[in-house]
Amino acid sequence: MSSGIRFFTGCLMHMNEIGTIVPSSKYVGRKMAKNLESRMETIVELGGGTGVITKELLNKMNSNQRLLCFEINKEFCKTLIENWDGRLEVINDDAINMPSYLNGERPGLIVSTLPLAIMTNQKHNLLRMIKENLSERGKFVQLQYFRFDGKIYCDYFSHVLRRRVLFNLPPAFVYTCYN
Ligand SMILES: C[S@@+](CC[C@H](N)C(=O)[O-])C[C@H]1O[C@@H](n2cnc3c(N)ncnc32)[C@H](O)[C@@H]1O
Repeated sequence: MSSGIRFFTGCLMHMNEIGTIVPSSKYVGRKMAKNLESRMETIVELGGGTGVITKELLNKMNSNQRLLCFEINKEFCKTLIENWDGRLEVINDDAINMPSYLNGERPGLIVSTLPLAIMTNQKHNLLRMIKENLSERGKFVQLQYFRFDGKIYCDYFSHVLRRRVLFNLPPAFVYTCYN
């Protein structure tokens, strides 16, 4: 089964966790991965899905960097594990548990496609956890579909940049938030 069909099937069963019916485009992945810098040792992805963003992050990473990818859906984890190399660790757990996998380390980059817009209190717990665990000069990068959903990042981060990605269904915004 192709990863696109796996994604769509997963969506039908878990729409409340996934928040969309098609995976992100590679253009979104590239825009998010542009935030990667060689000084960042550990990179975290929250909501790996079937790996579109994961792939772009791995393409840009050097051999000394590692990627921890959190994905709550077991079937999506199988697709993630099938496809990628030793720099990638796929973790089938809720993103909120990220700190317990880091052994005190603070990642330089946290990239997320979690459907924050459809979450209520959970979204605030996640943003607090991300803010507390990001390294001092770290960046948090989040995908959003609507501009008004992005205002929340200014409550948590010192500086926020918004970039539009037209080549995605639907067109999206990538927010880069600085700690
Ligand atoms: C909008 S989809 C994006 C998937 C993929 N990164 C992409 O861009 O195509 C969001 C993903 O987050 C996962 N997810 C939702 N809530 C989660 C949570 N609390 N912890 C970990 N993964 C979660 C869903 O299962 C889904 O795969």
